Amino acid sequence: MIKAVRGTRDLLPPDTDVWNFVEERVRRVFQSFNFREIRTPVFESTELFARGVGEDTDIVSKEMFTWEDKGRAQSEKSQSLTLRPENTAGVVRAYIEHDLGRPGLLQKLYYIGPQFRRERPQKGRYRQFYQIGAEVIGPPTAGSESPLRDAEVLQMLTVLLESVGLNGTTLHINSVGCANDRPLYNKALREALEGVKHKMCADCQRRAETNPLRVLDCKVPEDQPIIESLPKISEYLDDACRENFAQVRSILDTMGIAYHVNERMVRGLDYYTRTTFEFTHGDLGAQSAVLGGGRYDGLSESLGGPKAPGIGFAIGEDRLVMALQSQTHNYAVPVQAYIAPLGAGMNGPALKLADELRRAGLVIDVGDESFRLKKSFETAEKLGATYTVIVGENELKSGSFAVKNIKSGEQATVTRAELADHIRPK
Ligand code: HAM
Repeated sequence: MIKAVRGTRDLLPPDTDVWNFVEERVRRVFQSFNFREIRTPVFESTELFARGVGEDTDIVSKEMFTWEDKGRAQSEKSQSLTLRPENTAGVVRAYIEHDLGRPGLLQKLYYIGPQFRRERPQKGRYRQFYQIGAEVIGPPTAGSESPLRDAEVLQMLTVLLESVGLNGTTLHINSVGCANDRPLYNKALREALEGVKHKMCADCQRRAETNPLRVLDCKVPEDQPIIESLPKISEYLDDACRENFAQVRSILDTMGIAYHVNERMVRGLDYYTRTTFEFTHGDLGAQSAVLGGGRYDGLSESLGGPKAPGIGFAIGEDRLVMALQSQTHNYAVPVQAYIAPLGAGMNGPALKLADELRRAGLVIDVGDESFRLKKSFETAEKLGATYTVIVGENELKSGSFAVKNIKSGEQATVTRAELADHIRPK
């Protein structure tokens, strides 16, 4: 038997009911904040992620699905391509490629789609997973650097989580500074690591040289006491970053959005500057981050684009759905009526009636004229339908239908004109 590849999975009903519920709700919230959808390709040139996300990150150094694409003809040079491990780099690439900064406004874009990372699969961690993300990006004259944008993104996230009904999340925020203060922090880290790095894992030893900030991503238990003792990024912020972070917090306080400042949170991608954040949820086990994001003021320039500060986030949809499923709620859209054609020649009239009722906004399923009445009732019950409507010769002649409420057992004869209203939930 051929099975789905390790780390990938089929999403089946009734789980897909929850996925659709979530996507429908978040699209509504995005719309109310004036975000519009962007769809970028699932694979991109490898260089985009190497330059955007960073060579020394776990994502780029270990987790990407990369291949040499031979091109169409023998003569063409091969190109290194990668399945996207995240969507921010793709969105910024598209922003640059299509000159989306030209109108001088902010671009407020959202996406929903699969991402790919070769991580060790476990609960809440897959090799193909789904993100619901958003990015606000634009020229500084459009206000893209304002702390209001950071606060509005966090406000939108609280509304998003509320609209899907997820309770019990905690917001963690931090500032990781900017291009001005990062060299100072890197220097401090290098100095602090100098005498101890030989006791650390091979990754840490390498990163201590190439990109010391990434030492803080290490998950090796033996390295944690050393990492705990390293200087904190918050002690190296310049005045402008410090002031910016104070303003973001002050707006959050005004809005009544609760948060924890987590000075150890540097996030695992190189493009972050200033505000970074994660929302965690208690029911998710080891993979507790339901979403993460932050500001990336230099990303556009590092990809060869114009100055275009931005901020965004990505929700792990798999984890969001998992957290929702730990709460009790039925996300299935119920079948409101099951139409049972009774006897030869009744399939056509049954489908015609189904069409009328669906156009009236109802969820309708249909049996088959070969079914006996008993089988029709049993099928309707298995489907969880609220009503059964019988379509037979007599019903067609009289223009009234025998309608049975499956749960209460109540029966009624209802005219064609009144049928939709009779079935519609009160
Ligand atoms: P990230 O923290 O790498 O950020 O991923 C965001 C979220 O995606 C995580 O919090 C988690 O819920 C989910 N996620 C990540 N890896 C997996 C996995 N293997 N299986 C299941 N879920 C996973 C980013 O991707 C940034 N692009 C977010 C961002 C947007 N920053 C600014 N704009």
